[in-house]
Amino acid sequence: MELPAEAKAVAGKNSLNRHAARHGLLAGTAVVVRALQRDTALQQLIADQYGIVVSENELKWVALRPGPKEFDFAPGDAFVDFATKNKLLIRGHNFVWHNSVPSWLLRDPGSYDVRQLLAEHIQTVGARSRGKMNSWDVGNEAILPKDGREDGLRKSFWFEHIGPDYIDLAFRTARAVDPTAKLTYNEYGMEYDNEDESERRKQILALLRRIQQNKVPLDAVGIQAHIKANATSAIGKGLSDFMEAIRQMGLEIYLTELDVNEDDITSNDIATRDHEIAQTYRHFLDVALANPAVKLVLTWGTSDRSTWLNGGPTHHRKQPNRPQRSLPFDPAYKPTETFFAMRDSFDTRGKVHGA
Ligand code: XIL
Repeated sequence: MELPAEAKAVAGKNSLNRHAARHGLLAGTAVVVRALQRDTALQQLIADQYGIVVSENELKWVALRPGPKEFDFAPGDAFVDFATKNKLLIRGHNFVWHNSVPSWLLRDPGSYDVRQLLAEHIQTVGARSRGKMNSWDVGNEAILPKDGREDGLRKSFWFEHIGPDYIDLAFRTARAVDPTAKLTYNEYGMEYDNEDESERRKQILALLRRIQQNKVPLDAVGIQAHIKANATSAIGKGLSDFMEAIRQMGLEIYLTELDVNEDDITSNDIATRDHEIAQTYRHFLDVALANPAVKLVLTWGTSDRSTWLNGGPTHHRKQPNRPQRSLPFDPAYKPTETFFAMRDSFDTRGKVHGA
């Protein structure tokens, strides 16, 4: 497949990253290395549009650790090579996440010193990527108030086997092995004005404060921003206040996994759906970009040809037979209304306040 004329027309000075750069931002995308390797049009599109990339899965434990003593670096290295060749900055994702524990470890945790295993993992992977990373997601999704703990920590595998200080350990080890990567705490579920996310915001801020009080190295907070079209709650004051609190702690803010789930749109008309999706992006970005601490905006994928929202079982989806249009490029790599909404929001940064 060749890049369509519509995609070529928005390269160069019309690209997302050029518009972002004028307002102190870098635009980026998540990539799936295997799909990228056999798709030269996608390679071109990413090189044209972005200034930073993150690997969707290749640097997670499950990808890197086929066995207790083995490392599989091939896909992660291919990702880093692609970025380097195309002069793109790189985010590492991630060092510790409840959802990426290899099966050999889950099956038989008693056979390992899990604390040492985590430290050694970060030392080995961090040494290989040393000096190459703009930022590393060190801790991912550690907060889950529903687990009932006062500190809001999720009772994850890492928590259960190491204790609440597994987060400190991960950040300290990451800083020691690669002092130039910005160390990031990455989370979901803090975008909306509702009770659940308000509680999550409170617990996330408390965690960040504990990290700083303990003099644990931390540079940035990642707001995943997996948002929804037609959501029942609003995006506004809750998010703005939360971001301002983070800014006042001296931390940077990255929008790390932005996409829009459009299952709640009832119309099947593509133009109508695209418009609602683009409006959802626009409003979120207008609110978020009003805070000057925001430095990076990455979508979780590039084109609707491949989005995690279409992966996995479809039975729980409200629109099981309707592939999601959730990203700035459609399956033919033409820019959608979302592309232009993102660019417009970059252009008007500091001039509009969506909140
Ligand atoms: C997702 C990937 O997109 C999927 O391909 C994979 O099967 C599961 O993980 N929050 C995160 C990401 O931090 O790592 C997740 O990525 C999406 C939610």
